[in-house]
Amino acid sequence: MKILFYDTKNYDQESFDSTLSSFPSIEIEYTKSDLDPRTAALAEGFDAVCAFVNSDVGAKTLDILHSKGIRLILMRCAGFNNVDLDTAKKYGMRVMRVPGYSPEAVAEHAIALALASNRRLYKAYNKVRENDFSLSGLMGFNFYEKTAGIIGTGKIGAAMCRICHGFGMKVIAYDVYENKSLKDFVEYVSLDKLLSDSDVISLHCPLMDSTYHMINIETIRQMKDGVILVNTSRGALVRTDDLIEGIRMHKFAGVGLDVYEEETDNVFEDRSDEILKHSTTARLLSFPNVMITSHQGFFTREALQAIAQATLQNALDFKAGKESPNDVRNG
Ligand code: NAI
Repeated sequence: MKILFYDTKNYDQESFDSTLSSFPSIEIEYTKSDLDPRTAALAEGFDAVCAFVNSDVGAKTLDILHSKGIRLILMRCAGFNNVDLDTAKKYGMRVMRVPGYSPEAVAEHAIALALASNRRLYKAYNKVRENDFSLSGLMGFNFYEKTAGIIGTGKIGAAMCRICHGFGMKVIAYDVYENKSLKDFVEYVSLDKLLSDSDVISLHCPLMDSTYHMINIETIRQMKDGVILVNTSRGALVRTDDLIEGIRMHKFAGVGLDVYEEETDNVFEDRSDEILKHSTTARLLSFPNVMITSHQGFFTREALQAIAQATLQNALDFKAGKESPNDVRNG
């Protein structure tokens, strides 16, 4: 079975190459290009393609992949909001993903963002480098005995609940389904109550029609003054212009974003030598209480190995015609 891997960086290649020896029936070719309607034709002669979080797996791309005989789309990530599932279904293409490769990797990054923005670690680091040992602008608050509000308590949200519990925080959560494994230390509340009672709010639900822009000016107004907001899930859960308005209203003690609406063109690219024309990211970064990282929540050694193992197993399951919990179903 031949798979074309799109948007591959050296670290992807290293983790997949080291796992490939356990999958002798699979052959991989890597391309640095990301998958979109311009690059889909490269899949000629392959059985499957493997794409990532910001690949464009929309209708146009799928039309071309279908015409090249591709029947399997392997997403080497958990999210699949960038795949047009209706079109994939129409063509009988199977879409598989890696739902839970290392929830702790993302949850640990979420708490790192919360702590770093609370204590302004990014500023402190630069200040000390400049021999500025003053503490002005660095004051934060204790997390101990404060309330953490976790939105979405699937695999990553549950890991975040456990971490916040470990910090001695009261943990409240909102989800459309309750996670029974958390019942000893998490109280499920309505979204309204979570917004009004939390000192730290962390988003861990997927991006769907029902969650698009769930953090907007109305929900921001419901939050406590001095709240910390963390988003490691998907950028469009937060309406960026409203977030900026909220920051200007002094609503937030800190904002930590690993994902943001504008990220698609930036993610995993070095654009440090470019003059960016319209950058709300730059506007966000002009505030002293905002810290942004570029979709690195998943980026640990353990997570990359688990992604490689699960993606190649997905390919084998497809080949064997086996059903899998990693199938992305439409509806
Ligand atoms: P999961 O599927 O285990 O959990 C998602 C949870 O959200 C479920 O419990 C679900 O019931 C809940 N949910 C669905 N609709 C909701 C709503 N309207 N309101 C509140 N909760 C709702 O997913 P997992 O593995 O925990 O991942 C969560 C998200 O994290 C993914 O969808 C992905 O977008 C993001 N992610 C980010 C990464 C990064 O590197 N920054 C890496 C991996 C995932």
